[in-house]
Formats: sequence, C-alpha cells, structure tokens
Amino acid sequence: MKNGQGQVAEIFLDSRVRLVCPPELIPAPGQYLLAHAVDSGDPLADSVFFSQSAPNGFVAAPGQSWTPGTQLNLRGPLGHGFNIPTAARKVALIAFDDSPERLRGLIPLAFKLGAEVVLVSDVPAADLPEAVEVQPLQALDEICRWSDFAAFDVARENLPELKKRIGVGNQLQAQILIRAPMPCGAIAECGVCAVNIRREWKLICKDGPVFDI
Ligand code: FES
Repeated sequence: MKNGQGQVAEIFLDSRVRLVCPPELIPAPGQYLLAHAVDSGDPLADSVFFSQSAPNGFVAAPGQSWTPGTQLNLRGPLGHGFNIPTAARKVALIAFDDSPERLRGLIPLAFKLGAEVVLVSDVPAADLPEAVEVQPLQALDEICRWSDFAAFDVARENLPELKKRIGVGNQLQAQILIRAPMPCGAIAECGVCAVNIRREWKLICKDGPVFDI
C-alpha cells in the first residue's frame, strides 16, 4: 500500500474516468484506491476501482464526480481482488445491480487462461471485445449452470436478493465483489463497511472487497 498523487486525465461518456498515476498505485481488478480531490471540501475519500488498462495509469469504473484536470491524493492499492482459478475455462462476469465496469478488468485475464467469457448485466458496456458474449440478468441461472467460475459484483444491501437468485446449496465456484461505503479504508476500523458472511462479521474494506463464495 502506497500514498501518491494522481490526476483525472479524461472522463468518458459512460462516466468512466481515465486516471494518470504512478504504476505502483494501479489496483488489480477488484482491489481499490482511496482518492481524495486536492481542492475538495469533502472530508471523505472516494473508492476507485480498476476497469481497464491505460497508458500512464488506468481507467476507473464510474462512481466519482470529478472533472478533467482534478488533482488527487491517492492511497492504495487496498483490499483483496479477484483471482480466477487457472483451470477455469467458462468464466461468467455478473454485474448484479450496477455497471459491469468493475468486472471488465477480468476479461483479458480470462482470455489469457484460454477461457470463454460471458458478461451478465442489464447495464450496457461499451467497446467490449467481440469474443465476449453479453446476456441480460434474466439469463443468470442458465449462465451460472454453464460457468465453471463466476465473478459477481453486488451492493451489500442486495446480497440477500442475490443469494435467493443463485440458490442455497449451489456448488458454483465464485468470488463476489461486495460494494459498500468504505470511508476509512481500514485505517480507523470505523465499521461502516461491515458485512455478515457465513455468520461472521467481516470488513469489506479489509477482508474484501472480493470474497470467496
Ligand atoms: S471503511 Fe472503515 S472499517 Fe471499513
């Protein structure tokens, strides 16, 4: 984990943000940075997730309200990211309730393993590689049955709904990125990001944000 400076270089039409920053601050897919605009009066930092590689930095998933040129204080990379099993050959990326951009960074990693990739989302993603098949959330059950590894992205408040959809006892091998406010990024143990997983309290900012399920 490092501290450093970055800058907003570009905002895309789909609200993704291209950041310029030192290479050691670039998070892996599923990890995050805490970013605070230098001239912001807001005491809380934004959580920034990797979406795609870019020269001199990376493209971050949507979620911030910055403008090009904004100077940022950055801390990270933080937390545990995704880890696709090397034996995976049918990879499902499932954005349950939001943009699929936090999962996009897994596409080149899955292709490197020789896996097929299906993206399940009701939110469109621009400029996907042609080899990625896109399916609506309606196809969730079918794609879960097809896949040998699934990566989910879901808000903490929607976990019960997701659990219901994929079914208790489902043997699916999967990891899940759980989104919640992470104001302290594990520094103050504020507990705002707590989540109950298998009857145990975990901190999303520190034990996650990606968990095995
Ligand atoms: S954000 Fe404070 S403990 Fe997780």
